[in-house]
Amino acid sequence: MDTTINPIYIVGGSKGGVGKSMVALALVDHLQRRDANIVLMETDTSNPDVMKAVHDEIECAAFDLDEADGWIGLVNFCDTHRDAVVIINTAARNQAGVARYGAMLASTLEELSRRLVVFWVINRQRDSLELLREFGTTFPNATTHVVRNGYFGTADKFTLYKDSNVRKSVEAKGKSLDFPDLADRVSDDLRSQRLSISKAAETLPIGQRAELLRWRALYDTMFAGVISDA
Ligand SMILES: Nc1ncnc2c1ncn2[C@@H]1O[C@H](COP(=O)(O)OP(=O)(O)OP(=O)(O)O)[C@@H](O)[C@H]1O
Ligand SMILES: [Mg+2]
Repeated sequence: MDTTINPIYIVGGSKGGVGKSMVALALVDHLQRRDANIVLMETDTSNPDVMKAVHDEIECAAFDLDEADGWIGLVNFCDTHRDAVVIINTAARNQAGVARYGAMLASTLEELSRRLVVFWVINRQRDSLELLREFGTTFPNATTHVVRNGYFGTADKFTLYKDSNVRKSVEAKGKSLDFPDLADRVSDDLRSQRLSISKAAETLPIGQRAELLRWRALYDTMFAGVISDA
């Protein structure tokens, strides 16, 4: 695969509350500090939390993936931002729209000179994996990494995933990753004040900042293991 082609990162997971927005915020922060030119596409139109946190820092656009119109806008946005890395934060309810219209994006990747990389965020339940199987049929050429969210327990507790066929097919091309758990007190601050991580690293009290930096160092290692060339 040609790694000089700018990626589109989709942060998915389909289920509500698995940590998609947290991973998207972390990915924005990680790539910002690698001086990547990034744009954010927010597709959670009812709760555009990631966009609200980062819109002062990077260019953002919102698209509704339940509608064909949203996918047309998204493809065009990729075209007009060819020099940028695109990060897409998805909403829990997007799965039906992905099944119906996702092939539109899949079919334009070559012309857009883009490769698709998926960070699929999971909790410990079975439906996280079933939804991934469905998603994979729409984007067969994507590189998919499964992100075990440490908020739901340590890696060894994700036993369904460990024993699944999904893991085998993911690890044929991508990786199984561990996203670190952040202390509730700090994640509550991020959420309630709609902070980006770079902003939080400047403004939170020293104790919270220390925890934030501990967490950031861990996800930097996680992303660096799969993002070679920002
Ligand atoms: N790694 C983590 N460390 C600490 N808290 C976490 C972590 N992951 C998730 N959480 C908690 O779970 C909440 C839900 O996470 P988040 O909003 O990222 O999920 P989501 O998948 O984007 O949900 P939605 O489907 O509603 O968009 C967060 O506000 C946070 O409180
Ligand atoms: Mg979200």
